[in-house]
Amino acid sequence: MNENVGGSLTNTAAATATAAAGEPADSCVMVIFGASGDLTKRKLIPALCNLARDRLLTKNFAVVGFATGEFDAQGFRAKLTEDLQSMATSPVDPQLWQWLSQRIYFVRGSFDDAAGFVKLRETIAAARAAHDIQDNIFYYLAVAPRFFAPVIHQLETAGLTAETTNNWRRVIVEKPFGRDLESARALNADIKTILKERQIYRIDHYLGKETVQNLLVFRFGNGIFEPIWNRQYIDHVQITAAETVGVETRGAYYETSGALRDMVPNHLFQLVALTAMEPPISFQAEAVRNEQAKVLHAMLPFSPESVLQQAVRGQYGAAMAAASGASVPGAANSSEPRPVAYRTEANVAPDSGTDTFVAMKLSIDNWRWAGVPFYLRTGKRLAQRSTSIVIQFKRAPFELFRQTAVSKLLSNRLVVRIQPNEGISLQFGAKIPGPTMQLGSVTMDFSYAEQFGAAPSTGYERLLYDCMIGDQTLFQRADMVEAGWSIIAPLLDVWSALPPRAFPNYASGSWGPRDADELLAREGRSWWNGDT
Ligand code: BG6
Repeated sequence: MNENVGGSLTNTAAATATAAAGEPADSCVMVIFGASGDLTKRKLIPALCNLARDRLLTKNFAVVGFATGEFDAQGFRAKLTEDLQSMATSPVDPQLWQWLSQRIYFVRGSFDDAAGFVKLRETIAAARAAHDIQDNIFYYLAVAPRFFAPVIHQLETAGLTAETTNNWRRVIVEKPFGRDLESARALNADIKTILKERQIYRIDHYLGKETVQNLLVFRFGNGIFEPIWNRQYIDHVQITAAETVGVETRGAYYETSGALRDMVPNHLFQLVALTAMEPPISFQAEAVRNEQAKVLHAMLPFSPESVLQQAVRGQYGAAMAAASGASVPGAANSSEPRPVAYRTEANVAPDSGTDTFVAMKLSIDNWRWAGVPFYLRTGKRLAQRSTSIVIQFKRAPFELFRQTAVSKLLSNRLVVRIQPNEGISLQFGAKIPGPTMQLGSVTMDFSYAEQFGAAPSTGYERLLYDCMIGDQTLFQRADMVEAGWSIIAPLLDVWSALPPRAFPNYASGSWGPRDADELLAREGRSWWNGDT
């Protein structure tokens, strides 16, 4: 019998599921603001189902949805039941869902109306009484950023943020956290008048990805990589987050954001920090985050001149012509409509100067990384969906094979595939069998799916669980968010002062603008695009 998730689950799929290694989370109430929105149905509820299946929720748990929608608790549960059919990462056991859905409540209210927060307080009290829940609450702000501070102020007014010695209040804040350094600072200052830093969980969903977390294990759980993880052995690092999708339905948001704000100070800088950080002295949140923050602070600031030389922006145009019957480049599959130019997407200005692609060369000015360029790029409507970290090692120091048919030795390359086909591969040279000395490039490959089986997840399970147990390791601290914005501030300034002249400058389905290739080519390097 699964004692953590209620007695009714005996002999169910939940009871037979492999128990995860962790203990069930603290008894608590989860309040979701924006409960009728996309994130709730796509990620949060499926993630809670997976946590329940893996016995990581206690039975003393409830969810309260808060939104403007016309629901009562029954109607909300019915909506989520329907959503789950298409959104769950794997079929949900009906008994498990019945167990969880009985613990889901709904409060109708708007973020600027104090009455809704009074109702919220009453509903939390009722849920706690019904399920014998301790006085712990976490609030998930799945709302537009302009509501972050107002919701937190309303919670305070309703008496819902004050902690006691044994009971906690925590707030998960979605991105974007500010839209530049100034607004991020102002938001931090505002919410810190109410909450302490230890109560604030700034989420970056990249840190919920298994492969991202595995970077720490790969680097610090193995003895053989750290000695060569530095400027003596590494020529450069490439970090790519390429998407085949366009802006989809998010034109209005994207027009205020662009690829730089949307992806770089958060997701890409997290990947840089995990790749470049020093070993922490422990896996306590502060120890890990201190090391990550040091990397962000060591990034060499851009000057206006270096923005022009070391950063490239792009915007997608329509697709390149595809041979008839061939799949459409830039579309996830051939049945998708041919991609249109960004400027003709819904809610996008016909002369928009918004960037949908960014590439840059970063320098990390510290002992380990001096002189090792970090090349970053991200974009929409690119040739492949692929997020990866490429560590390009230096060539062998001595050309032993120069008298043979082998003119040039290849350098070793380690590729961490964040998604899809999660895994790690190492490329090295090997002798091609035969009487002459010929070298070929071969790859050793570790695949998550082959090794561990693909256990589909939303990527939010770990983050929700960590919030419930009070572990902030995978969440961004205020100084980290501000450091991220401060690095890209010169790019934002220069680019807004100099509107792009050549947009659109790359075709959907390509690898981005030519300037991005030139950024590396002029230093004798090239992007790794998934070939060997
Ligand atoms: C989000 C961005 O934070 O990350 C989106 O707002 C982007 O524009 C998404 O598509 C990418 O996430 P993932 O997990 O698909 O790499």
